[in-house]
Amino acid sequence: METLKSARLLLRSFAASDASRVQQLASDPEVALRTANIPYPYPIGGALAWIEAQARALTESSTNTWAVCRIAEQDLIGAIELVLAPSRFEGAVGYWIGRPFWNQGYASEALKLVLDFGFSSLKLQTIAAQFVDRNKASGRVMEKCGLKAVPELSRTALVRGKMEHLEVRRIAAVDHQRSQ
Ligand SMILES: CC(C)(COP(=O)(O)OP(=O)(O)OC[C@H]1O[C@@H](n2cnc3c(N)ncnc32)[C@H](O)[C@@H]1OP(=O)(O)O)[C@@H](O)C(=O)NCCC(=O)NCCS
Repeated sequence: METLKSARLLLRSFAASDASRVQQLASDPEVALRTANIPYPYPIGGALAWIEAQARALTESSTNTWAVCRIAEQDLIGAIELVLAPSRFEGAVGYWIGRPFWNQGYASEALKLVLDFGFSSLKLQTIAAQFVDRNKASGRVMEKCGLKAVPELSRTALVRGKMEHLEVRRIAAVDHQRSQ
């Protein structure tokens, strides 16, 4: 999987040695419960099983999942994934950042790297993301990266056993290139 680099961040493949750090950051309910798929309570050994599953998904070449790492501090602070649709023209992103590192621009910086990669290297036509509408920080990250609301795809759905309003945001390659 391609390594991506910005001023502060390195996005690289996960390794088994990242498991304890992932377990520590992703088991935080403030992180897990805001995502659709991080289990809570987080099972013992869950991080290693998840890292191994990411490696399999990459082999099937449908999902790229990067560890979000700070270059200066040399630490792992989160994860970001890009899931390709069967057509290979569309992608969907998802991400989390450990709570001690929130509101320092890291998710936005990581998402910009993944958008650049998806459009430049994979030649995707669109990249979308969805979030529960009360997750204002995630909506703001998408907004800062140029993703726009797609009202016709937004919907009410069952998320973690509760009916929630899911908002969908999307950006096209042409709009991303124009914003560079
Ligand atoms: C959503 C998340 C990834 C954001 O990560 P981050 O590194 O803090 O994001 P950034 O610093 O790049 O941007 C956050 C923006 O949201 C804003 N924000 C934070 N909390 C907010 C709130 N309650 N209401 C409105 N805006 C808020 C910040 O001010 C910042 O915007 P600004 O740069 O204009 O000031 C992080 O909070 C997280 O991992 N949450 C739990 C998992 C999750 O929600 N994943 C996404 C699922 S769709």
